[in-house]
Amino acid sequence: MTDSDADSDATFLLYGAYGYTGRLVAEAAAERGLEPILAGRDSERVSAVASDLDLPSRTFDVREAAAFVDDVDAVLNCAGPFEKTADPMVDACIREGTHYLDITGELSVFERIKRRDAEADDAGVTLLPGVGFDVVPTDCLAAHLKRRLPAATHLALGLDAAGTISKGTTKTVLSGIGDGGAVRENGDLRWVPVGHKTRAIDFGEGLKRAVTIPWGDVSTAHVTTGIPNIEVYAAMPPAGRRLLGAANYLGGLLSAAPVQAVLHRLVDRYVEGPDERTRREGYGLVWGEARSPGGRVVSRLRTPETYRLTVETSLLCVEKTLSGDAPTGYQTPASAFGPDLILEVPGTERVDIDGDEVVERVSGPELEETTGRGGGDY
Ligand SMILES: NC(=O)c1ccc[n+]([C@@H]2O[C@H](COP(=O)([O-])OP(=O)(O)OC[C@H]3O[C@@H](n4cnc5c(N)ncnc54)[C@H](OP(=O)(O)O)[C@@H]3O)[C@@H](O)[C@H]2O)c1
Repeated sequence: MTDSDADSDATFLLYGAYGYTGRLVAEAAAERGLEPILAGRDSERVSAVASDLDLPSRTFDVREAAAFVDDVDAVLNCAGPFEKTADPMVDACIREGTHYLDITGELSVFERIKRRDAEADDAGVTLLPGVGFDVVPTDCLAAHLKRRLPAATHLALGLDAAGTISKGTTKTVLSGIGDGGAVRENGDLRWVPVGHKTRAIDFGEGLKRAVTIPWGDVSTAHVTTGIPNIEVYAAMPPAGRRLLGAANYLGGLLSAAPVQAVLHRLVDRYVEGPDERTRREGYGLVWGEARSPGGRVVSRLRTPETYRLTVETSLLCVEKTLSGDAPTGYQTPASAFGPDLILEVPGTERVDIDGDEVVERVSGPELEETTGRGGGDY
């Protein structure tokens, strides 16, 4: 879709607009002439971004959202951890008849929003969480694999997105670190230790060790594909695998409030989001395999760097929702817009593999810059 296809009167509110990712989204939206209302809970910080970008702004606590989202068509929530912000914002959106989108990757948040499906449908509202790197590429790849092998009973997804991560993402990961991992078995969620399985995966650059993680797709890919057995893997160097082992050993201790407070203070002090060059030069790799009793198919995706992709996919999903393309009720990116949504993003490429042979290669629009990234120790 192009900007000109969007309903020109439709408006959206961007909550969390002064966070690392929210600000990138706000800047890109302004460049495209989308004119979102920028919002967040700190009036000084919201006003500063709004004045830099010459956009309107609102300050409110998420628990008071209903009074501030009643005159917009959609909300894009970039304020995470979403464990704290998604429920009150979803409540407000359903009550006021406003579409809800966010960039969560948190499994428990997807599971909770999914339960609001009927309520949202009755209100004529779309609930579309996960419109960032989590989970747009993996969700589209899952839907594509289901299209290639309709009888699939097992789905494995993997991602290799090495690079710097922001304060907010680090805090979100730390908040959930004591909760363990999850897979889907026979249609049900099963809680397991993080990294309970390892596997060597070829993301397109040779084999890398990857471990299971409780990624949002354990929830969303089941909705999108109906495949009853789902595992998600992340490529991880040996140091990361040792850290996960330690996290499993420490278990609930890491969830304790005083430990979390110390960890969050360390993040505030030492973690910075990726710089402009990293966002421009990095890239993400996604791998997927579907199996049935008689078949196996493998496909891969290459995407722009994760934060850059998040900006692109979140705005693309907002634009499509504002133009009335999204069904109402609970949706995943691919249930709303189909498996090829990801190929609308510049710099993406999808390959289908049969044995060792690439049998099909499809690319999205071209990116202007070339991409490159150093290898790792896997
Ligand atoms: N789906 C994806 O691929 C993807 C990509 C990027 C980021 N994310 C997720 O998006 C979230 C934000 O990441 P970030 O890098 O932008 O982090 P960040 O720079 O720390 O920004 C977080 C933003 O959320 C706001 N916020 C946090 N808790 C809030 C609450 N209870 N009420 C209202 N506002 C609240 C913060 O406001 P205050 O400063 O006032 O607390 C800030 O504006 C993280 O959860 C991250 O994991 C997902």
